[in-house]
Amino acid sequence: MNQPSVEVILQPIGRRIEVPAGTNLLETARLAGVDLIAICGGEGSCGGCRIRPVEGQLSPRTLTEQAELSNADLAAGYRLACQTEVLGNVRVDIPPESFTTPQRLQVEGQETETDNDPVILPVEVEVFPASMQDLRSDLTRVKEALAAQNLPGAFFSRRVTLGLPGKLRANDWHLRLALRGNEVVAVLPPGSPLYGLAVDIGTTKLAAYLVNLISGETAAKAGAMNPQIAYGEDVISRITYVNEHAEGAQTLQTHLIESLNQLLETLCAEVGITRGQVVEAVLVGNTAMHHLLVGLPVKQLGESPYIAAASDAMQFPAEEIGLELAPGAYIYLPPNLAGYVGTDHVSMLLGAELVAPAQTTLALDIGTNTEISLIHQGKHFSCSCASGPAFEGAHIKDGMRAAPGAIERVHFSGEKVHVQTINAQPACGICGSGILDAVSELRKAGLLDARGALAGTHPHLTGTGRRAEFILVPAAETAVGRELKISRSDINEIQLAKGAIRAGIEVLLERAGIPATGIQSFIVAGAFGTYLDLESAITIGMFPNLPRERFAQVGNAAGSGARALLVSAHQRQLADELSQRVEYVELANHPDFMKIYVRALAFGNS
Ligand code: FES
Repeated sequence: MNQPSVEVILQPIGRRIEVPAGTNLLETARLAGVDLIAICGGEGSCGGCRIRPVEGQLSPRTLTEQAELSNADLAAGYRLACQTEVLGNVRVDIPPESFTTPQRLQVEGQETETDNDPVILPVEVEVFPASMQDLRSDLTRVKEALAAQNLPGAFFSRRVTLGLPGKLRANDWHLRLALRGNEVVAVLPPGSPLYGLAVDIGTTKLAAYLVNLISGETAAKAGAMNPQIAYGEDVISRITYVNEHAEGAQTLQTHLIESLNQLLETLCAEVGITRGQVVEAVLVGNTAMHHLLVGLPVKQLGESPYIAAASDAMQFPAEEIGLELAPGAYIYLPPNLAGYVGTDHVSMLLGAELVAPAQTTLALDIGTNTEISLIHQGKHFSCSCASGPAFEGAHIKDGMRAAPGAIERVHFSGEKVHVQTINAQPACGICGSGILDAVSELRKAGLLDARGALAGTHPHLTGTGRRAEFILVPAAETAVGRELKISRSDINEIQLAKGAIRAGIEVLLERAGIPATGIQSFIVAGAFGTYLDLESAITIGMFPNLPRERFAQVGNAAGSGARALLVSAHQRQLADELSQRVEYVELANHPDFMKIYVRALAFGNS
């Protein structure tokens, strides 16, 4: 007998689908084009497909779910989609961590809240055409039209004035002007939408957003590798390159700006606008990226006491560094906090709304450098730790960045090793979240000791001592025709990274005088932070073992902050206030830092 159809609504993406009653929920999501993490293939052992029912009738909870879900999840009503059947019309909520990487990218916030304190104001002006009876200059008539709208004394730079006569005549003496304070930064056809460019300049990657300045909508986004990587993969090696080459700083600046211009071209083409409509840019990055972009000296950043050349917010015409926006457009860079806590961290704190949180909050953005803030009782401490590029897949033998075919999740069930790859492509390497999971699963299976040595018995474990390796995917199942494995030295790379991060956390806790359990809210930002599995990060001891509901993975908050800084002068003021308030903690100055670091290297969590 045919089962009646029921309607399933999947939140927060608002996808609806009709399926026969009794259909498995994981299958329902797939049919609706929503990919949930299902590393164990629906066996109910990986916990990847967690969802929370909001309303409607589902099959009763199974014993497998009772065993797999934590007490907190059970109490909050979570279910495993693979163990659940839909019996009536239902609405379910999918937490961000249950989406696969590509799907998670799609659900990342698209809107930036605009407020009534915009940086750029669009103004329409219509002027009388020049004639033998009206011989005022073009500029005079436009300025007078602005004055008539209560906008007297507008300033037009030479580069903006150059385009004015042509634009006036081409548009029947009717224009849209982009006003920045008292300065006109762009002259455009009437009604032209105005856009801004926000870029998060990471040591490894660039993330660029094109934002409609009126609606706050992100019209397009694009990513690229930071081209400076060819001159050194981390901040220190780039500074060394600059120190050793007379034209080094110029070379790094030129390559970066070329890439930014290419990204801008891609974004403009996608939205169907001209560069002339991009009237403001906000660029954020760590202090070295900031200095290399602006052309500030970096030598002093690379040697103790690691001093920034400038830490105030900056703004200057985009053309000064060759960024090809509207002729009069400006670049704004928020303040940085210290030599190694840059504008990207300020931007992250703004994006995650952590300017003055009521709760004791720890926020970090994991990258080649990991910046950490701890905010406790109105005091704000920040530090930066050199966590290295292992989580970007670098220094890992089979490592790769998060791209199709990268193993992003690993789960052991008994002797079976399940992996999940991005876009479900045949495996060709392991990205950061996959490596983290693999180390955590090895630890849980008792195959990895606290010092990082692999030992024990498992069909996938080969070799002994320093030569021990664990095979994640056999050669026959990979796209590269060879085994994909984790070696002892890969594990050591992860150990160094996690040790640096945990040591940074411990030093800030000590500075604030609170234990780890005093952290009421633990915010994990950044691309890697979005995809990592929290349980894995806790299992290996990278994060303290806190109640899970205190953790939140907030995506690229630095990018969100940069977009907010693009549309709001108020956010720029908050950035200034934040920079005044933060106390920078230099880890190298801590007398016991090495002791804390060595302790933090151990795998496991108390
Ligand atoms: S797919 Fe549901 S628990 Fe693994």
